[in-house]
Amino acid sequence: MRRKFIVGNWKMHKGPADADALADALKRALAGRDASVDVGVAPPYISLPAVVSRLKHTGILVAAQNLHTEQQGAFTGEVSGEMLRQAGVAYCLVGHSERRQLFGDTDAIVEKKVHACFRSGLLPILCVGELLAEREAGQEREVVTRQLAAALGKLQADQVPSVTLAYEPVWAIGTGKTASPLQAQEMHATIRGWLEERFPAFVARTTRIQYGGSVKGSNAAELMRMPDIDGALVGGASLNAEDFLAILDGCR
Ligand code: 13P
Repeated sequence: MRRKFIVGNWKMHKGPADADALADALKRALAGRDASVDVGVAPPYISLPAVVSRLKHTGILVAAQNLHTEQQGAFTGEVSGEMLRQAGVAYCLVGHSERRQLFGDTDAIVEKKVHACFRSGLLPILCVGELLAEREAGQEREVVTRQLAAALGKLQADQVPSVTLAYEPVWAIGTGKTASPLQAQEMHATIRGWLEERFPAFVARTTRIQYGGSVKGSNAAELMRMPDIDGALVGGASLNAEDFLAILDGCR
């Protein structure tokens, strides 16, 4: 009952012209294919208008990679959820590990950003995941459930399924080291169990949990076969159409 959801996070790649070309390639490749999987892309801010315009009426969803906690104000260089909504963006990543590690997004800021998404009518894709040292110390469950509690703790139960969760173990991001399907499944089951404990049953049943970290065509199928993995958040392999489409093929 949970449709798979595959999102390409382009990170700081693809200016407007390159982004438009990639969006166009995806649009052509996906036209006429059965839409059994939800597909989205997350270009950098500067390329959002080109991609939104290119993908209009295609069913391919567009996400931003970040937003500010406030709607407007004297925050030079920042972009608000309200602006993203006006630009036609539907989703927004929140709490990506690169934001947490390199740009100071703490649990408290991540929570504010989740709420900023809801205020602006954007659907959050909330990223959680442990560092290598945390996994080696056996703390991965504790870290991930702490991140979940901080970000989702104050939401109403009926808001939670609008959040796509993305479990991205930091040690698997951009390293070529994927979590094994069992390692990923184990954490996804922990996350679903956490939802079950805190919210009415429909929340755990319907909330989608993506896996992210070195997903590619060659490993997508076995990851997507796991019962609690509902899609993928893809970095490197989303930067060209062929590699990204190979991942979509793995979801069939
Ligand atoms: P890679 O697929 O390049 O490991 O990146 C994963 C990621 O961070 C997606 O948000």
